[in-house]
Amino acid sequence: MRIFLGLCMVLIVTGDEEMTITGNLEGSVLLPCNCLQRNLDEEFLWQREEPRTILVVKNTKNTSNYNSGYKDRAKLFLHENSNNCSILLTNITVDDQGRYRCKFYKKKTYMRVFVNLNINASYDVCQDDSADNLNANKSGKTFRCNASGHYGEAEIQWKLGGQLLTNSPDTNITHTNTLDDQTGLYQLTSKLITKLSGTPACDVKAKGLSIVIRDDCTTMTETLINPVDPMRYRYLKMIPIMLVVVFSVVLWRRGNSHRYQR
Ligand SMILES: *[C@@H]1O[C@H](CO)[C@@H](O)[C@H](O)[C@H]1NC(C)=O
Ligand SMILES: *[C@@H]1O[C@H](CO)[C@@H](O)[C@H](O)[C@H]1NC(C)=O
Ligand SMILES: *[C@@H]1O[C@H](CO)[C@@H](O)[C@H](O)[C@H]1NC(C)=O
Repeated sequence: MRIFLGLCMVLIVTGDEEMTITGNLEGSVLLPCNCLQRNLDEEFLWQREEPRTILVVKNTKNTSNYNSGYKDRAKLFLHENSNNCSILLTNITVDDQGRYRCKFYKKKTYMRVFVNLNINASYDVCQDDSADNLNANKSGKTFRCNASGHYGEAEIQWKLGGQLLTNSPDTNITHTNTLDDQTGLYQLTSKLITKLSGTPACDVKAKGLSIVIRDDCTTMTETLINPVDPMRYRYLKMIPIMLVVVFSVVLWRRGNSHRYQR
């Protein structure tokens, strides 16, 4: 309670508050705005400030008017608590990234809360170095990379010793990008053939968006080939037990045979 009061004091003194929130593409995110003791007769609004100003929602005397672009995607909680001016954005897109402002009146003072919304897109990435390298030919060694995620404007890139690889007389990189209608995921693939020595590494890059990479060959190939069956690998747990049993039998038999030889 004391901390809470302390926070309120800070708010009263500074007026403005600023925070950064991260949401995941196509997910939902709560933009927080605590409007404790706000003046219920004055209007309250959320607007996006950057890259250009857009009114998200305006509330005057119990009536909320949403901008058409947010009508089905934004939700206020004023009916639950008139001092909770937070807004929930759902189905977030790349365009939702930016700086938002919550404005309300407390007594006669104009209060502002700024929220910077960053958007992450996550990709499952799987690199396969084994493919064709047993019979590496004079054009070089081949490496393959698969990635899957919700954002289509992304590309696989290759790095060797921290250096970005591009097409050159020594290196040939090809890409594919297809949308899987069933999962709604973009499947990116890239093939690298290079005469350079060393093992390159792949990752995913997108303009203006942070990409979260999950190194995940198991689920990638599983989901690509067939749906994951959790029972499928149950027998793997049996292997250590079987090993112990077999080992014990072998030791016991050796012990016995020594005894017979004597
Ligand atoms: C406002 O309501 C939402 C949804 O119930 C909740 O998650 C959030 O913590 C609330 N915020 C405040 C400041 O009370
Ligand atoms: C939001 O996403 C869900 C599931 O991904 C979909 O069913 C729904 O239609 C979307 N809503 C809007 C307003 O786009
Ligand atoms: C890369 O290889 C493909 C065939 O695999 C070929 O069509 C293309 O021209 C090559 N690109 C370069 C830059 O050498």
